[in-house]
Amino acid sequence: MIEVIRVKDYEAMSLYAARLVAAQVRLVPDSILGLATGSTPLGMYRELVRQHREEGLDFSQVTTINLDEYCGLPGTHEQSYRYYMDSNFFSKINIDPELTFIPDGMTSDIDACCEMYDALIDFLGGTDMQILGVGENGHIAFNEPHDYYFTGQTHKAELTANTIEVNSRFFSDPAEIPHFAISMGMRGIMSAKCILMLVSGAQKADAVYGLLRGEVTPRCPISILQLHQNVKLIVTDDAFVKIED
Ligand code: F6R
Repeated sequence: MIEVIRVKDYEAMSLYAARLVAAQVRLVPDSILGLATGSTPLGMYRELVRQHREEGLDFSQVTTINLDEYCGLPGTHEQSYRYYMDSNFFSKINIDPELTFIPDGMTSDIDACCEMYDALIDFLGGTDMQILGVGENGHIAFNEPHDYYFTGQTHKAELTANTIEVNSRFFSDPAEIPHFAISMGMRGIMSAKCILMLVSGAQKADAVYGLLRGEVTPRCPISILQLHQNVKLIVTDDAFVKIED
């Protein structure tokens, strides 16, 4: 079931999402949180950091599992997702770094790394709450559109030309733009007890349409969330325009 929460802008989306995450952590202090990177959740992380500093929100028992990491970027690289998480969130709250999991983009054995990631998700029993953003082409994590199937397992994903182009704004040297990532698959994502899908911006309107009005198809990866029992879509007005047509 998808509950739609419409908000006016990015700030409102971020606040709403942060309140839900904070409530989860207050109610279940040893929650397993599934986390995303990108521009979408930045405001949510900022608000969670504020609540930690000013309201004592306690992350000391929380475990986190991130969705993805670029292949070939070490955690010290400013564009790696490990660096993003450490600098925007983990270093600003009281989380145990040992309990923050992100695929290793520098692994010499990608298959083993993917298998271990799925074993970890199984061991933890899935996430209690999964934060998701969506790509303009409907991708979630780096599960890119595909003609025939959804990929269940954590896997090495080839980024589409569209995703590479959208990401290129973050890289000064085009040669450094990754073409592959390690991405959680749909099984890991769908094993979440609750999914918070954050969407803002007119460029995401097609993805919102695919989620709410489209058929379930790997051509629009976000559409698989129609099959999940507890999705909260927190969506800004400008990303909702195609639904109102
Ligand atoms: C990031 C991730 C991606 C992003 C998506 C949207 O961990 O899994 O699927 O959520 O590319 O990115 P932004 O938020 O930058 O528009």
